[in-house]
Amino acid sequence: MITCFEKLDNNNTDEIINKAARILKKGGLVAFPTETVYGLGANGLNAEACRKIYEAKGRPSDNPLILHIGDIKQLYDIVVDIPDNAKKLIDSFWPGPMTGIFNKSNIVPSSVCGGLNTVAVRFPSNETAKKLILASGVPLAAPSANTSGKPSPTKAEHVQHDMNGKIDMIIDGGECDFGIESTIIDFTEKIPVILRPGAITKEMLENVVGKIVFDKAVYSLLSEGEKPKAPGMKYKHYAPEADIVLVNGSTENVVKKINSLLSEDFKNGLKSGVMCRESNLKLYNSKFVLSFGNSADTAGKVLFDNLRKFDDISINKVYSETFDESNVGMAVMNRLKKAAGYKIINV
Ligand code: TXA
Ligand code: MG
Repeated sequence: MITCFEKLDNNNTDEIINKAARILKKGGLVAFPTETVYGLGANGLNAEACRKIYEAKGRPSDNPLILHIGDIKQLYDIVVDIPDNAKKLIDSFWPGPMTGIFNKSNIVPSSVCGGLNTVAVRFPSNETAKKLILASGVPLAAPSANTSGKPSPTKAEHVQHDMNGKIDMIIDGGECDFGIESTIIDFTEKIPVILRPGAITKEMLENVVGKIVFDKAVYSLLSEGEKPKAPGMKYKHYAPEADIVLVNGSTENVVKKINSLLSEDFKNGLKSGVMCRESNLKLYNSKFVLSFGNSADTAGKVLFDNLRKFDDISINKVYSETFDESNVGMAVMNRLKKAAGYKIINV
């Protein structure tokens, strides 16, 4: 298959959106930008079109997809009940990087939901995403547009790297604003449960509806037999080729520890890199040091791009600084811990 790559500029948006919508209506696959990461879209009410998503990504069939809507009215077609706390959070955070889990209606094929009775719904704020959903006339099923298990794509080039020849079209809308996937909240529980942390933080949600809890899979490695509520959280995700190790402690201790590990690796012929705050860039003895910027917010935006950059230069090991697990730091640490397979050295 030849994948058509279309870059948006100020004049061609409508033409490209119409072309993409025609592909989607015929059951094809189109990757498109959202404010979080690039999505791999198909008609979410067409089981056969969605099957192609699983094939292109190499995604296990028990891992359900998120349906993306472009108008709040579409929510009422695909879910059966909307609890009051969900309504309040929708008023505050939609359109935006928040996904809700609801009981599904009959028009949503069960194969799209990994056989569950629930469906994940997201109303993105990205203008291209909204226009594309509305032009297609149906909710779009869209997982992140990466090969299953690889870091999510935050640039169209990442999508091209993973999906070229496997999908019909890629819309290049530039770099994504947030860079980490949406916050997922299960509204089928009395007290809403965060299944995946994102840019809409626990603190922001609690300001609107009071108590919210994290699913255990958000902050710790589950033991054998334990099942996360979001099936996708059980996979070792975001995994680049290199071994990632997180080093946690005071800046002084972290720098000392990482530099000693770097010199050991160098002696053993390993190519090792570092991810750190902008202000610490010069403190590490490696040629391969990538910056997180200076906060968890900037780290979220560049994290997946950094992981892919290390892959491009075939790095064997990456040592990473850590963040406080509050606000967006929770989401950044969740992705970092998963990328590291929970290898953390405390110093
Ligand atoms: O920001 C995002 O959410 C991006 C953009 C493209 O919108 N999408 C995304 O989709 O990250 P994906 O498929 O890569 O991640 C969806 C996660 C998976 O972990 C999946 O298991 C979980 O959502 N999920 C989907 N439907 C669910 C359901 N009914 N119950 C529990 N978890 C669900
Ligand atoms: Mg994904």
